[in-house]
Amino acid sequence: MRRIILAFSMMLVAQGAQARSAHSQSIWNGAYTEDQAARGATSYQQNCARCHGAGLAGTFEIPPLMGRFVPYWSGSTLDVLVDYISRAMPLGRPGSLSPAVNADIVAFILKSNGFPAGSKELGTSADAQKAITFDATNKKRGKAH
Ligand code: HEC
Repeated sequence: MRRIILAFSMMLVAQGAQARSAHSQSIWNGAYTEDQAARGATSYQQNCARCHGAGLAGTFEIPPLMGRFVPYWSGSTLDVLVDYISRAMPLGRPGSLSPAVNADIVAFILKSNGFPAGSKELGTSADAQKAITFDATNKKRGKAH
């Protein structure tokens, strides 16, 4: 049920993102910095790796944070992903990490999936994150902006 609600709210967000896409940033033009991803790597290994795997590949019952993860989240904006993580993860003690740590971890996840670093850190406010589209398929279709 949670998945269905999540998928539905992502659809709404995706529609909004399309309307804004002319002016919004994307994960293709540097949504985080290398330093931030390095901090995120440490926090990921401490808080997430035991379930999602040191290499983000997931396990039998736990979803990967790479590969199919990317098309699954594509079409939303980064606030949706950060919000999900901050409310639902780490499973067992959800909400225990600070907004800054969650943003760092998302920077690490973006880097691990091959999205480039830039000169500005991923911010901790929902507004800043909402301005960045998770448009993972754009580049493949040759539509990166
Ligand atoms: C105790 C095990 C455990 C830990 C620790 C954990 N997760 Fe998860 N995670 C899960 C499980 C199980 C799911 C699937 C939940 C569902 O489908 O409702 C999941 C789902 C997710 C998803 C959604 C994946 C998808 O396919 O959409 C993300 C993103 C995520 N976790 C990120 C994190 C991050 C970031 C951390 C560390 C801060 C973390 N998780 C820590 C077990 C864990």
